[in-house]
Amino acid sequence: MDFEGRDIVSIRDYNRVEVEHILEIAELMEPLTKSSSDMLKGKILANIFLEPSTRTRLSFEAAILRLGGSYISISEARVSAIEKGENLVDTIRVMENYVDIIILRHSLEGAARLAAEVAYIPIINAGSGAGEHPTQALLDLYTIKKEYGKIDGLNIAILGDLKYGRTTHSLAYALSLFKTTLYFVSPESLKMRGEVLEDVSKRVKVIETKDVPEIIPKIDVLYVTRMQKERFPDLEVYEKIKGTYRINRNSLRNAKRNMIVMHPLPRIDEIAPEVDQTPNSKYFKQVWYGLVTRMALLSLVLGAIK
Ligand code: NCD
Repeated sequence: MDFEGRDIVSIRDYNRVEVEHILEIAELMEPLTKSSSDMLKGKILANIFLEPSTRTRLSFEAAILRLGGSYISISEARVSAIEKGENLVDTIRVMENYVDIIILRHSLEGAARLAAEVAYIPIINAGSGAGEHPTQALLDLYTIKKEYGKIDGLNIAILGDLKYGRTTHSLAYALSLFKTTLYFVSPESLKMRGEVLEDVSKRVKVIETKDVPEIIPKIDVLYVTRMQKERFPDLEVYEKIKGTYRINRNSLRNAKRNMIVMHPLPRIDEIAPEVDQTPNSKYFKQVWYGLVTRMALLSLVLGAIK
């Protein structure tokens, strides 16, 4: 399997065998988070983040540093030439002279695909508008695999903003590569995007619902997401809908004993802080799984590992 030089724009560009290989390499990376390595010595990564981010940007920075490489970054359009009106294609054509790989977050859905088409170096999509967030989906799969030892056979609920939440789109695609049953839980107006629903329903069983208590006893994973306030065309609608779901200890009362609660973060108020102390909560561990998954992706795409 050869990952060297490949872009990661959509999770749909990868098949099950490739996804499983990435998860195996992530496991190999675990010890290196303590000891570091010079596997990517001399390699430079560019972070171009034109939307807010904490975890994704910092975890790519930490990942390349742990592997002996370094990074440069644009994290605010305001202080870069983009503010002067430079277009994305030009920015990419310039940046690729400086670095070996570009990590791009952009508010437009086609941005990462466009960047990948013009760049000679690999582009990793770190979030393209309301579209996709493939590396988040890979770390989500890795979390599930580590916590359960498998992904096949699990019942997984994805809850919250399934319309605008890019993590939910990539995760649904990714889970449909496995033998899973998916529950899409959302208010009526934030139901899973039609194109995603149609695609994943071809491979796995999908149940759409609004009702959390009804599904809680059936599921192995509860994946909670925030309402994507910044993507609502009408803030009044957001204000009406924002409190629809709040997972607290009581919501977990009828859950299977080893059911896990995940969240891509940031959390607003959709998971009560009291859940953090329960053995079910895995969202902070998920952050660490994200680091090792991104170390795996960088070492594969930059050709340090086959
Ligand atoms: C997510 C994103 O940017 O889509 N954040 C992340 O990368 N973990 C989720 C979100 O913003 O709700």
